[in-house]
Amino acid sequence: MFLDTANVKEIEAMQVFHWLTGVTTNPTLLAKEIGKSRAVISREILSILHDEQRLFVQATGETQEALYDDAQAILSLDTRIALKIPADEIGFRVITQLKQERPDIEILATAIFSVEQSYLAALAGCEWVAPYVNRMANQGLDAKQVVASTAELFKQLEAPTKILGASFKNTAQVIDTLLAGATDVTIPSNLIQVIMHNKLAADSIHVFNQDAKGEKI
Ligand code: E4P
Repeated sequence: MFLDTANVKEIEAMQVFHWLTGVTTNPTLLAKEIGKSRAVISREILSILHDEQRLFVQATGETQEALYDDAQAILSLDTRIALKIPADEIGFRVITQLKQERPDIEILATAIFSVEQSYLAALAGCEWVAPYVNRMANQGLDAKQVVASTAELFKQLEAPTKILGASFKNTAQVIDTLLAGATDVTIPSNLIQVIMHNKLAADSIHVFNQDAKGEKI
């Protein structure tokens, strides 16, 4: 499980549980951390991640050159950073360029709304694809089906590309995505809190605690 945030305090709070494979950020999440640059936030996050935990940082740019330069700027920050590159034409051009130059770097193709985008990402050698589950749902798309078909296709192709489900607004979407065949999910901190503060569980636990103390409810 990845944490979908650029907030250092949220990551610190979650690190005690040893659940995290890493952290995913995007430009919108970074913009919420007012007054701090991407480089500063990335270094702060890396300082609290273990060596084996990944930090994904997304490159931006409206031309191939701008996106490539931004990807290089991200890679120069720290060797533990993996790249997120949007899965459109410019993104695929940059992914191809980067993979030719440095086959060792890990790339996650992001902003995935179709099986077809994931197919191209797998052919391009991306290590990860990130289908945007809630954003698909907002457009009336069947995100679970998209993830299931992607998983089936990757299996058929024997592609090593992993599916990292992203863009979640409720916990059912997370489980549906995993059951559909996603290798991993990236979840905002508030959804992990929702899971840990299940109202029915809380009611049961309260009764157990009262009974253990011999108190009548
Ligand atoms: C993660 O990599 C994505 O950028 C993120 O999950 C998108 O989430 P959103 O649709 O809630 O913005």
